[in-house]
Amino acid sequence: MSNESETPKQIPGEPMRVKTSGDIEVSAYLEIAKEKGGVAPSRALTGIPAVERESIVVLDFGSQYSLLIARRIRECNVYSELLPYDTPWEKIAHLNPKGIIMSGGPSSVYEENAPLAPAYIYEGKIPVLGICYGMQAMTHQLGGKVSPPTKREYGHTVLHISDRHSPLFAGIDEAITVWMSHGDSVERIPPGFNAIAHTENTPLAAMANEKKMYGIQFHPEVVHTPQGKEILKNFVTHVCGCKGNWTIGNFINESIDAIKAQVGNGKVISALSGGVDSAVVSSLIHKAIGNQLTCIFVNNGLLRREEVERTFNTFRLNLGMNIIFVDAADRFLARLKGIIDPEQKRKIIGEEFIHIFEEEANKLGKVDFLAQGTLYPDVIESASTGSTASAKIKTHHNVGGLPARMKLRLIEPLRFLFKDEVRKVGLELGLPEEMVWRQPFPGPGLAIRVIGEVSKEKLEILRSADFVLMNEIKRAKLYRELWQSFAVLTEVRSVGVMGDHRTYGFLVGIRAVTSEDAMTADWARLPYDVLARISNRIVNEVPEVNRVVYDITSKPPSTIEWE
Ligand code: XMP
Repeated sequence: MSNESETPKQIPGEPMRVKTSGDIEVSAYLEIAKEKGGVAPSRALTGIPAVERESIVVLDFGSQYSLLIARRIRECNVYSELLPYDTPWEKIAHLNPKGIIMSGGPSSVYEENAPLAPAYIYEGKIPVLGICYGMQAMTHQLGGKVSPPTKREYGHTVLHISDRHSPLFAGIDEAITVWMSHGDSVERIPPGFNAIAHTENTPLAAMANEKKMYGIQFHPEVVHTPQGKEILKNFVTHVCGCKGNWTIGNFINESIDAIKAQVGNGKVISALSGGVDSAVVSSLIHKAIGNQLTCIFVNNGLLRREEVERTFNTFRLNLGMNIIFVDAADRFLARLKGIIDPEQKRKIIGEEFIHIFEEEANKLGKVDFLAQGTLYPDVIESASTGSTASAKIKTHHNVGGLPARMKLRLIEPLRFLFKDEVRKVGLELGLPEEMVWRQPFPGPGLAIRVIGEVSKEKLEILRSADFVLMNEIKRAKLYRELWQSFAVLTEVRSVGVMGDHRTYGFLVGIRAVTSEDAMTADWARLPYDVLARISNRIVNEVPEVNRVVYDITSKPPSTIEWE
């Protein structure tokens, strides 16, 4: 944080994503094996040599917390992947799972076509932990009885542990607060199981058998179960015997090997934007193959003040990377002339980016691979879009994919990482903290923060206001606490008075939100004195602006960006 407050001007952004809509492979191992032309997947992107490889596979029964389970397991330094509940053994064997977790889910075992676990789960070869619906499916499939709700249990509950010797509860207090969220519950545990914990409303809240099968009705993965992480750690270490060798250092070393093997003598291009993901992916690949990587950095004229220079300097001067810098600000502006519809803006910016990227790539001669900063949540989201299609509010990934004629193969070394893991990789690779910790910034940049038609003059006004805002946010040491903070230039003009003069200036909106994942967000309760400083400075330092308002709406019903 100290770095950031010393260099308050740095506010670079997220990558303009170059997404493809191709099918998502379930596992990096398979992908690498394929890329290597059939070489056995002895090493792969999880960062663990084949001999020591271990993982916990989470089978997804549809809970909103499923991905969180994988994340918690990785916090125990054990690699974890989330896969569909009916994934056959052949598709997970290469991960060498030491244990399997069946997630919660919205179904009832009595529904027609209720999701149930594949048979290999119950063969007793690997420890299994069923969470919430996972416990109910286990009960149902192994001859116990699940009953429909008499009393629903939702929220905090006290769990009493009756089997204090159970390895699952090693070191856990006898009575702990847990998070419950279920209708159905287990009425009779399956033969061979013992009840090991209860709550007031759920007499059978946890169960276990001799074959290391466990069921728990509560959710250990959420923060509302304060000792939940301990319980998951117990499962991973005491029950499954994992060593915990999945570290960021290992990941980097193994990724470097995998990238070298994948690329051979080939050429790779990447699109650099100054955002975290593209920065980390480019640095990682650069570390593996040096100048076989060329980064293309397009200035679309829609970035914030000093962002272009800082990004360029970091990559070219500090990291010595091969960068083609394209100053295309005028091209983008020309195409945005007269456009007021936000979706139109996104489309135009996406298209123009592709044109430029392709033009530059063609100049390089034969290129084999395109590097992309796809992250694990993107992979999971794309893999499940069929079932969870929701109404399109905004086209976030403005670039629909590169033209097929470019015939580039994808290289996506971060596709199995969470954002916080990507940041750790970035830091370990020596990227500056201010770059690794930057807030997300949309691909269309300031074009969707200038309301209505975009012009050079308006962009400059917005840059000045935004620069002041970010400066104050960093000075108040709030930058990392906020998911995003930025200024918006509206089309509204209002009357003011400065000195003895009447003014008629622009209205600037300030947006600052907290969020976990941008799906929902709350407006940040910024201290009044910070707001006062922001407002005073903007009006004093940006002559075209004479009024500042603070946006106090959450998402939903609003969105984070104004357009
Ligand atoms: P909204 O405004 O939908 O934004 O609440 C959620 C998150 O997505 C970012 N965002 C975009 N990112 N291209 C992007 O790459 C876009 O067109 C785009 N629109 C919104 C926004 O900044 C927030 O983090």
